[in-house]
Amino acid sequence: MKAFICLTSVVLLASSVSLAADPKMATMKAGDAKAGKVLYTSICQGCHGDKGQGGVGAKLAGEVGTWKFDLFKRALLQGKDDKGVALKAPMPNFTTVGFAGKKPTDVQLMNLHAYIKTLK
Ligand code: HEC
Repeated sequence: MKAFICLTSVVLLASSVSLAADPKMATMKAGDAKAGKVLYTSICQGCHGDKGQGGVGAKLAGEVGTWKFDLFKRALLQGKDDKGVALKAPMPNFTTVGFAGKKPTDVQLMNLHAYIKTLK
């Protein structure tokens, strides 16, 4: 019995290690900044600047990258800032306008957030 428990924990350990080492899982979790840049350039840059420095839109560089993902997602899909205050026009509500007409997926939002984290 002791040997069985021991073997089970080894197997469990081995499977969790291989999960963490899977590069695809790792990038999914962290977001793919390269893919995010493509979205940023085509959708956000016009208002927020090529380096997130701001323009018509608020400055994102060095600020929005520090937000928790859930707050970033809420800003885009529900139009609220990190304190829950409604974002004013012309900041789009992306639940309504979508990314190229489709409601943004979590993966797209994670990628976008990952790219914004690189803006200093
Ligand atoms: C048509 C212009 C426009 C576009 C396009 C746009 N934004 Fe904005 N955004 C704004 C404006 C203006 C504000 C400030 C609103 C306010 O102060 O209430 C803002 C605010 C924000 C905020 C809140 C910043 C803060 O500090 O509170 C975030 C986050 C944000 N935008 C992300 C994005 C992302 C990501 C994209 C692209 C997917 C995007 N925006 C596209 C105009 C735009």
